[in-house]
Amino acid sequence: MKRLLIFILSIFFTITFYGQIKAKVTGLCSNCHTMHDSQGGSPMAPYGGLGTAPFQCLLRGNCLGCHGQSSTGGEYVLWGSQKVPQVYHATEGTDLAAGNFKYLGTDDNKGHNMFAIDQEDNASMFPPPGYKTDPGITATNFSCAGKYGCHGDRTVTGETTSMKGAHHADDSIIDGNTTGTSYRFLKGVLGLENNDDNPWQNASPTDHNEYKGLTSPDDSASATSPGTGGSISGFCAECHEYYHGDDLDETGGSFSPWMRHPTDISLPSSGEYTNYISYSIVAPVARVTLPDLPSGVVTPTGANDDIVMCLSCHGAHATKFYKLMRWDYANSSLSTALKGCNVCHTSKN
Ligand code: HEC
Ligand code: HEC
Ligand code: HEC
Ligand code: HEC
Ligand code: HEC
Repeated sequence: MKRLLIFILSIFFTITFYGQIKAKVTGLCSNCHTMHDSQGGSPMAPYGGLGTAPFQCLLRGNCLGCHGQSSTGGEYVLWGSQKVPQVYHATEGTDLAAGNFKYLGTDDNKGHNMFAIDQEDNASMFPPPGYKTDPGITATNFSCAGKYGCHGDRTVTGETTSMKGAHHADDSIIDGNTTGTSYRFLKGVLGLENNDDNPWQNASPTDHNEYKGLTSPDDSASATSPGTGGSISGFCAECHEYYHGDDLDETGGSFSPWMRHPTDISLPSSGEYTNYISYSIVAPVARVTLPDLPSGVVTPTGANDDIVMCLSCHGAHATKFYKLMRWDYANSSLSTALKGCNVCHTSKN
């Protein structure tokens, strides 16, 4: 009897607890989980018709099953009050901060062609350009998460296994220590997640994510870690390390004249860079000290809030433009091609 009471109480506390912490996901367990993968004697249809049930962690779909459901709609779908961000959705102009995998439908050169998404199956850049340690990614194992993907713990094989616990973690403090408490479940990466009016979007110069940057590339970045500094460019360097550069193994140079475009470097406090004073969502900068709220201010002092990053020029998933650029660098009109370059290089046109 006593045991039963403790059992009932523990269920009660668990439910209360779930209600109180800033849990990532909310709503009925059955929105996302199925206990037996069976209803009325038939297997459950996987979300989005993607993947093969039953799924690990008793889920009702795979990553894209939940995050790529919006074949006719916009940047999120609603399950009750729970918004489910859609990384692959139909409507243009409502892309999430990382972009929209939809653009790969017309051109493999516009983004990361994960196996679940690549439509022509002819993306051929394996291993990834600029790699130092071959991550072992191929056209048929490139995943959303885990060893052959980007999210989760990149030392763990398997999309769901590498993410286990993240969706239910209290992520009110982003410290990079676990997948759940890392910026957008990218283990080890820091940042300020824009979760308020336009969650997951970079909507305007004062309503956007804030990315972590450093004043020099991080020596501790490696094939499976963005480095102790947790910078977003250090994260891209996990697979494209030679485009990031570090002091020990530098193929890009460490001062002007550069041999590759620098990242994790602050805007010089002189010359053309001093005109970049308002945050631009076309060519954003990262911050050494992350603000508590998205900030519209940039101060090119060569120090803190003005760091060039991979995402100053690129998206993360896929964009409308060639080479996952944030603007149309391949355009034959010079002003269009230089739209983002000019945000920093204000005297080049
Ligand atoms: C909106 C979707 C969603 C809802 C609602 C949801 N879960 Fe989950 N849950 C997930 C996803 C996705 C995973 C697997 C990936 C991960 O752990 O991040 C998961 C993993 C889990 C795990 C294994 C990982 C861990 O944290 O140990 C447990 C246990 C779990 N859920 C229990 C529950 C219970 C109990 C409920 C209802 C109170 C619930 N979930 C509601 C999406 C959801
Ligand atoms: C059952 C549905 C479901 C599945 C399966 C699922 N997710 Fe999610 N995911 C969600 C929901 C709902 C949210 C929004 C949580 C919130 O409100 O912040 C979310 C949020 C996220 C976020 C944003 C986190 C943040 O910081 O805002 C990432 C990244 C993510 N999921 C990645 C994945 C990956 C990778 C997988 C596959 C391993 C996956 N998800 C599987 C439902 C799912
Ligand atoms: C887990 C490994 C991995 C990480 C981390 C990674 N990439 Fe990639 N990236 C690849 C692979 C593999 C390719 C080549 C295949 C493809 O284009 O899909 C690639 C290709 C690219 C391309 C060329 C796209 C094209 O279609 O021509 C760009 C640009 C790029 N990555 C930028 C980034 C940026 C920016 C980041 C950080 C936000 C990043 N990558 C993080 C693996 C990775
Ligand atoms: C977010 C700001 C930013 C953006 C956007 C940007 N740059 Fe740069 N760029 C810099 C900084 C900072 C340096 C290093 C300046 C220094 O060391 O004196 C640099 C260096 C360079 C250099 C080398 C200069 C030298 O002294 O060796 C070239 C060339 C260059 N950028 C071209 C471009 C082009 C082309 C684009 C657009 C595709 C672009 N940049 C976009 C900030 C930016
Ligand atoms: C100043 C803008 C700028 C920055 C910053 C930048 N890139 Fe690029 N990247 C480009 C452009 C433009 C291209 C297209 C090809 C070219 O002009 O070199 C490109 C191409 C690429 C490619 C494809 C190469 C190929 O062989 O097709 C990868 C991968 C890539 N970038 C990754 C990165 C990573 C990782 C970082 C950060 C460490 C980064 N880029 C920072 C502008 C930039």
